[in-house]
Amino acid sequence: MKAVILIGGFGTRLRPLTCTRPKALFPIANKPLLQMIFEKLAENGFDEAILAVNALTEFHIKQQRLSRCGLKLKFSRDPPKMPLGTAGPIKKAEKLIGHEEPFLVLNGDILADFSYKELWESHNEDKAVATIALHEVDDPTRYGVAELAADNRIKRFIEKPAKGAAPTRLINAGAYVLSPKIFSYIPAGRAVSMEREVFPRLAEQKIFYGRKVSGLWIDMGKPEEYLQTNRIVLNTLRSKQDKPMKGRFEVKPPVAIDKGVVIGENSVIGPYAVLGRNVSVGCNVHISDSVVFADAKIGDFASVTGALIGEGVVVGKKTKIVEGCIIADQAKVKDGVALGKGVSVCPAKEICEGT
Ligand code: GDD
Ligand code: MG
Repeated sequence: MKAVILIGGFGTRLRPLTCTRPKALFPIANKPLLQMIFEKLAENGFDEAILAVNALTEFHIKQQRLSRCGLKLKFSRDPPKMPLGTAGPIKKAEKLIGHEEPFLVLNGDILADFSYKELWESHNEDKAVATIALHEVDDPTRYGVAELAADNRIKRFIEKPAKGAAPTRLINAGAYVLSPKIFSYIPAGRAVSMEREVFPRLAEQKIFYGRKVSGLWIDMGKPEEYLQTNRIVLNTLRSKQDKPMKGRFEVKPPVAIDKGVVIGENSVIGPYAVLGRNVSVGCNVHISDSVVFADAKIGDFASVTGALIGEGVVVGKKTKIVEGCIIADQAKVKDGVALGKGVSVCPAKEICEGT
């Protein structure tokens, strides 16, 4: 069984952290999302994953040394300076995918816990050309919305409908099974949107099906959603964690602390703090509701709340980093700086007082 994972988007809403890393490699409680996706594919009986990437995302993925979980991995790259959209990469990977059996497609920025195998099985029962997983949300306008008939056929599919125009609250969960017939619906050599060009045609031709899925589902589109994803996963780990810890420093669960982390005296970590590999935290520091990527250094008396701190970032002494702040990889926030709500700092930039 093969799966295609789409990982060539630009993650614009998570900039500037996505300037240096694709969303699929963002760690969730210290495990990259893509690693979680590989684990789930392997659990669901898949043996091959084709990663539909661009040159940059391919480079970053290869740097990461993820465990393949027994999956055979292949890369299919969009042409330089020509992102192929969400359907173009599938056409481009036609030879790698082959025409033997249906295949699964996953958006590479979704954390979900429904069964891919059940989706696959329902696709085969319906003899559909496409079967998508549908998840119910309160506000469907940011997503692709489906109108479902009683026999699970999708009557209509509208990508990102205007307010008030969504026929239902059932949205494309970013996972679908396609039969090889799909290749004849996708023109080659240009960007094609699965959601805007292909799905509406399949609905018209009555060969498009949907299955409702429930349980955990989250699209890590925006910084707040990324933090929320971490909170959810930390909550699931909470039961396995030790009780709050107080000694030289204090740990308030739930937290995730990776290998090589050093924490100074009187610091308070948590709740909802994620510290990546080799993060160094000084003395009298407070970190809560934040994700600190690997190799970052947080100086004495700093406070970090509701923020994202990129890889290798240096946060100076007595700094204050508050809700909604995003400090991109390798940036430096100098001693004594207090950032306002929602400030973003570009990769490798230095911020001193008054900048
Ligand atoms: N290779 C490649 N090339 N991948 C791409 C490209 C491209 O040009 N553009 C986007 N992708 C990948 C993204 O990396 C992501 O994993 C996936 O395709 C979906 O693209 P997004 O840009 O994240 O789309 P969205 O979140 O606005 O909407 C999509 O996801 C929703 C669920 O979160 C749509 O599929 C909606 O219908 C759906 O409801
Ligand atoms: Mg998305």
